[in-house]
Amino acid sequence: MSGPGLPVPDRVRELAASAWVFRWQVELEAEVRFAGLANRLESLGAPTLIVELARRAAGEEARHAVLCARMAAELGRPVPALSPPPPPAVAPSGLAEEEAVTYELTAACCVTESVSVAVLTALLPAAGAPSLHRALRELLADEVGHARLGWAHLALARERGRTAFLGPLLPAMLEGSVDEDLFLPVEPAREEPALLPLGVLPHALKRELFARSLEEVVFPGLEGAGVDAAAGRAWLAARAGAAGDAPASR
Ligand SMILES: [Fe+2]
Ligand SMILES: [Fe+2]
Repeated sequence: MSGPGLPVPDRVRELAASAWVFRWQVELEAEVRFAGLANRLESLGAPTLIVELARRAAGEEARHAVLCARMAAELGRPVPALSPPPPPAVAPSGLAEEEAVTYELTAACCVTESVSVAVLTALLPAAGAPSLHRALRELLADEVGHARLGWAHLALARERGRTAFLGPLLPAMLEGSVDEDLFLPVEPAREEPALLPLGVLPHALKRELFARSLEEVVFPGLEGAGVDAAAGRAWLAARAGAAGDAPASR
């Protein structure tokens, strides 16, 4: 994968390759998560459309893993032969099954997939190679649908008055959705604009897009679904403040 312009430093290429290996792993985990959620939704008597969307999402994530593996290989780093272990449950213990499923769908779809959509949208115009452009476009088209699955489920849960419990749990959910170092300074190579044409966001931009997605999409969406997002907003303000970022734009 090489775009026009200046040669890419080895360290930047290495970082981009490991980012695609990491995405491969995340996509495989998402496949397992959606397959499990489809079964759990079915057991809970969720509408067939929602169950089918979750099942279809699992298949799409499997396809995404193949695309990410291909991108990693093009950058010189084939993915491991063995798949990663299945992802851990993200819902706190002690929730009833219906609430646990709502928590997982909110974390996986409304938060993570909404952020992914923002990231992919930012990466698409910067893609250096046609193969990368195609891969990003395919990922983006599907992740938009996965975010919608979460919002559709949340709208139904709201009709039954089963969403307010999420409010106080938002800080833990958001904490679990970010990489450990998102709000920390990183090595200068990870801020290189040369990462962008390889399909990877420089670190500060990644943090900025995460915060913006929460403010513009996730928090308003949650509030529209009957969830008080105040604790989530306070979590973001504290994390962004500690990282020295400008306060949330209003
Ligand atoms: Fe995906
Ligand atoms: Fe997805």
